[in-house]
Amino acid sequence: MHAVHAPPAMPNAFPPFEDESDASSVMSTSTRFPSAATSATSHDLEMRSASPAPSVYSMTSSLRAASYRREYGRGINNYSEVYRLPADDEEFERLDQQHIIFMEVMGKYPPPLAQILADDTPGEPKTCVDLGCGSGSWILDVSRDFPHCSTVAVDLVPMQALNMPPNMRSEVDDINLGLQHFFGDFNVVHARLVSSGIRDYEGLVDQMSQCLRLGGLLDLTEFDFRVYGVDKNPILTEGVSWLAQWMNLCHDAVHRNGGEPDAANHLRRWVSQSPVFEEVVYREFWFQTSPWRAGTDAATIRQNRISHVFRDDILAFLRSGRPLLLGSGLSEEVVDEVEENARVELLEARTQTYIRVENVYALRRRD
Ligand SMILES: C[S@@+](CC[C@H](N)C(=O)[O-])C[C@H]1O[C@@H](n2cnc3c(N)ncnc32)[C@H](O)[C@@H]1O
Repeated sequence: MHAVHAPPAMPNAFPPFEDESDASSVMSTSTRFPSAATSATSHDLEMRSASPAPSVYSMTSSLRAASYRREYGRGINNYSEVYRLPADDEEFERLDQQHIIFMEVMGKYPPPLAQILADDTPGEPKTCVDLGCGSGSWILDVSRDFPHCSTVAVDLVPMQALNMPPNMRSEVDDINLGLQHFFGDFNVVHARLVSSGIRDYEGLVDQMSQCLRLGGLLDLTEFDFRVYGVDKNPILTEGVSWLAQWMNLCHDAVHRNGGEPDAANHLRRWVSQSPVFEEVVYREFWFQTSPWRAGTDAATIRQNRISHVFRDDILAFLRSGRPLLLGSGLSEEVVDEVEENARVELLEARTQTYIRVENVYALRRRD
């Protein structure tokens, strides 16, 4: 086990964050591909059939509209009772901005990805799937950076991007229902921030492992619906931070809906203990929730700049959490009070708190 900082494997827009003290990384090591871009989307608004291969429909506007319903002023997917965060334009804008910060702090891709997706196997196109792709910011980047690869974006709602690259297709599916139709298909399997919609994340890790080709890369990133203090412990009691209190309400609501808010904390063990993986790498990233750090040195200035953008992400997330919290039985009065105080706390930038993001990547054994 050793701590290292990974250089980006691809020419990144940003290098990974270098400073250990904040927004930093700690790493330890311990076909069937019809390329039908843009309009073809596998889609089933009812429960998916037992058939291992989902049907493929043309994505019409009525099918698109049927994917959503309005709840508490936001567009919510119409498919899963577990995932209760919005899937509307405002949320996708938030996810796009969040993707940019993640690239700056974590690097664009995990180091092995470029080699694994290299165009070096004649007759066998490389393949990549993003499970719970959201706005598709990550898989769109992969599709453009590796145009020889076939890529698949899976989510509860159809991909919003109007001009998908020709090597990319979108599927609408609930990944809780199993991934048998993808077994053995992919060189890279990626999932980021999907835990609140996943019933059995450890079981999903097993399913994802079976989707990988031998030597393929699994790349998982999650956060744990907690807010941490400067001692890097989660703040679980009331009276310390309104943001922590708000996040703890979200944690409970996700759990009540059947999701796995704590999955981030177990990723490393689940992947390390699986006999099918090797070269397991674990990294954790600490994001300052607001620009509260004092100082004029370059590292502090950079951390505060990043946290400025990250604070906007959290402010938007406070709005995104309303359908989740109100739908879980909390009164509007309680939600309004905690949300407004968390908003003020973030804007004042005096409460020194962090969000912890955990990442694990590993290779599927060849033997
Ligand atoms: C917080 S967003 C993250 C999106 C994207 N991975 C990113 O990092 O920008 C979570 C996404 O996972 C999707 N999701 C959650 N549970 C899912 C499930 N069971 N099956 C498919 N997609 C799911 C949601 O619809 C949403 O788009």
